[in-house]
Amino acid sequence: MPEDVVFPANKVFFHGCWVYPFVSGGCEGVIFFGKNQRKSYLYAPFIKLYCMQDIIRSLIQEITQFEADSQSGLEAFRARFTNKKAVINELFEDFRNVPKEDKREVGQMLNELKTLAFEKLATLQELIESKKVTYTLPHDLSLPGDAFVQGARHPLATVMNRIIHIFEQIGFEVASGPEIEDDWHNFSALNFQDNHPARDMQDTFFVSVNPDFLLRTHTSSVQIRVMEKQKPPIRILAPGRVYRNEAVSARSHCFFHQVEGLYIDKDVSFADMQQTLLYFAKAMFGEDVKIRLRPSYFPFTEISAEMDVSCQICKGDGCNVCKYTGWLEIMGCGMVDPNVLENCGIDSSVYSGYAFGMGIDRLAMMTYKVPDLRMFSQNDIRFLKQFEKMEL
Ligand code: PHE
Repeated sequence: MPEDVVFPANKVFFHGCWVYPFVSGGCEGVIFFGKNQRKSYLYAPFIKLYCMQDIIRSLIQEITQFEADSQSGLEAFRARFTNKKAVINELFEDFRNVPKEDKREVGQMLNELKTLAFEKLATLQELIESKKVTYTLPHDLSLPGDAFVQGARHPLATVMNRIIHIFEQIGFEVASGPEIEDDWHNFSALNFQDNHPARDMQDTFFVSVNPDFLLRTHTSSVQIRVMEKQKPPIRILAPGRVYRNEAVSARSHCFFHQVEGLYIDKDVSFADMQQTLLYFAKAMFGEDVKIRLRPSYFPFTEISAEMDVSCQICKGDGCNVCKYTGWLEIMGCGMVDPNVLENCGIDSSVYSGYAFGMGIDRLAMMTYKVPDLRMFSQNDIRFLKQFEKMEL
């Protein structure tokens, strides 16, 4: 910065420095002379010029708008405005440098500023004190604590997880699919002919008709989705919620839960299926359980069967749970129909497989002696609390 700059007379005092506007080479700028006449130059063409009056006005605005609702906010106010080293005291110190003709006006403004700052401090203090009263009462450390409420797994999830765990031991993996299905994956690919009575058999909730979208009536649709994408060997479990248009009662609901299984590979036989299901029944119900397969019909399996397990409550003697038959029906199963394999692009002359599917809700009713199916979906905390100690 050249020393020989000619300063115009309108210098202003700024925060301990004299600020001189000048014009040099067509560019506006300022020079700061430091306190105690130390010559420090700062060339800053963009700096706006302030006088003491401007500074006081901006501080008044700052104080008026200041908000604090905590002790630390209050401390921040003190540090900025009212402490010994705060800005107001600094301004009082600088007062002696104010040009004579301005002294009266600036002096009055400074006093008003100081009063305002201390009044504001008192108001903030009061506000924080009044809040403290309401804050401290609920935090009385001598009050007894609130117990930590621990949630629990839903009984249906527990049963489902147990089944999954048992089949995972022998290499089955969990697969999933959408609950809103198209006609192909829920019916057609599974060998349900158009107008096949089986379509009536499953009274279905349609979301739209033509093209048909519906709430899946079983998780067999997931098996189709996996077979379309994956080459054998396939060994999957499809757990999930399914929907059927049934009257809601203690023993049936318009939605329930299933776990279905599928195994496709070369040379898979009905005997493999029987052995796998026996393994499952023993792991699920106990070593001494017996299984029984009765012929049945499903469009997507040929041959098809219904599997019963011996009643573990009466050990086969007959009770009201097994309706005095000694047996409980727990799942449908069978060898996957070759048409279904072909529908999914799997060569049925090379591959074969079995599928099975069971409802979880009835199983859970039996396991926990729940008298009414509707309890599972009523969200009654008194019912759910009883399962807190369960595992899996
Ligand atoms: N999908 C059948 C049902 O919902 C169950 C089943 C699955 C039967 C696989 C046989 C084979 O009832």
